[in-house]
Amino acid sequence: MKKIEAFIRHESFDAIRDRLATMGLPSMSVSEVKGSGRQQGYTESYRGAKTTIFLRPKLKLEMAVDDGDVDRAVDAILELAHTGEPGDGKIFIFTIDDAIRVRTGERGEVVLAPHEGAHT
Ligand SMILES: Nc1ncnc2c1ncn2[C@@H]1O[C@H](COP(=O)(O)OP(=O)(O)OP(=O)(O)O)[C@@H](O)[C@H]1O
Ligand SMILES: [Mg+2]
Repeated sequence: MKKIEAFIRHESFDAIRDRLATMGLPSMSVSEVKGSGRQQGYTESYRGAKTTIFLRPKLKLEMAVDDGDVDRAVDAILELAHTGEPGDGKIFIFTIDDAIRVRTGERGEVVLAPHEGAHT
C-alpha cells in the first residue's frame, strides 16, 4: 500500500476527484493548506504598503491505494493538475505499513477494497 500526497491547485480538484472516482478510487482526504515551493515570496502593494507573500493556498489530496493503483492515480493527477505554470504542485509517495478499518478491525489491503454497504 502507498500513500499519495498531492499538493494541487483548487481549480483542478473537481476534475481530479471525478476522474479518480470513475477509476474506482473514490477514497480520499482533502485539506486546505498554505505552502510554498521553490519560489521566494513575491512582493505586492496593498493600500500603499509593500507586503511580501510567502504562502499560497493549495489543496492537499491524500489517498491510500494498492501498489497496483499508484501509477494510474498519479497519471490522472498529473494530467489534470498540470497547467505548465509555476505552482502546479507536487506529488509525494509514501509506503504504508498497515491500514485498519475501525468498524471491523480488518487490516491490510482489504481495507482499501470496495465492500458491501459502502455509502460514505
Ligand atoms: N518540498 C516540499 N515539501 C512540502 N510541501 C511542498 C514542497 N514543495 C511544494 N510543496 C507544496 O506544494 C505546493 C506547490 O508547490 P509548487 O508547485 O510551487 O512547487 P515548486 O517546486 O515551486 O514548482 P514550480 O516551479 O512548478 O512552482 C506548495 O505551495 C506547498 O504546499
Ligand atoms: Mg512554485
